Amino acid sequence: MSSPLTPPTPATSASETLQWSDAFLLGFTPMDDIHHEFVTLVGQLQTAPETELPALLEAFIVHAQKHFDEEKTWMVETEFPARDCHIDEHAAVMNSVLEVRGLLAQGNTTVCRELADELARWFPGHADYLDSALSHWMCQKRLGGKPVVLRRNVASA
Ligand SMILES: [Fe+2]
Ligand SMILES: [Fe+2]
Repeated sequence: MSSPLTPPTPATSASETLQWSDAFLLGFTPMDDIHHEFVTLVGQLQTAPETELPALLEAFIVHAQKHFDEEKTWMVETEFPARDCHIDEHAAVMNSVLEVRGLLAQGNTTVCRELADELARWFPGHADYLDSALSHWMCQKRLGGKPVVLRRNVASA
């Protein structure tokens, strides 16, 4: 299976720094909180000085393990129907991240920046497609209804 971090179309020339926007809110608060943390960490990996990359990548790995484990637990506990492809995508991302950890330990900061840019490109689509379906599902399971999302000042897409 190809990595979900490989862009399906030619990469755009400039990589945008991932920044939080309420457009990312999906309505299931525990997931929104963890996504906020993801966005912050990836943005830091894209922009921090090179000397900070090893510590930031370690922080990101801790986060990603928690993030993906949390979503997996929700999916397994509630028997979410489409869980397998979602779990597989997380695993593929984690494999790429752990591979980059080894390369960064050898001093390859370029590959770490590339990873950060790929994560920034990957997240919006993943959140829109797989995570939003899980968010709806969890709101129905836990709250008995569709999520009500209150977004502040989100420009129309
Ligand atoms: Fe997520
Ligand atoms: Fe996910």
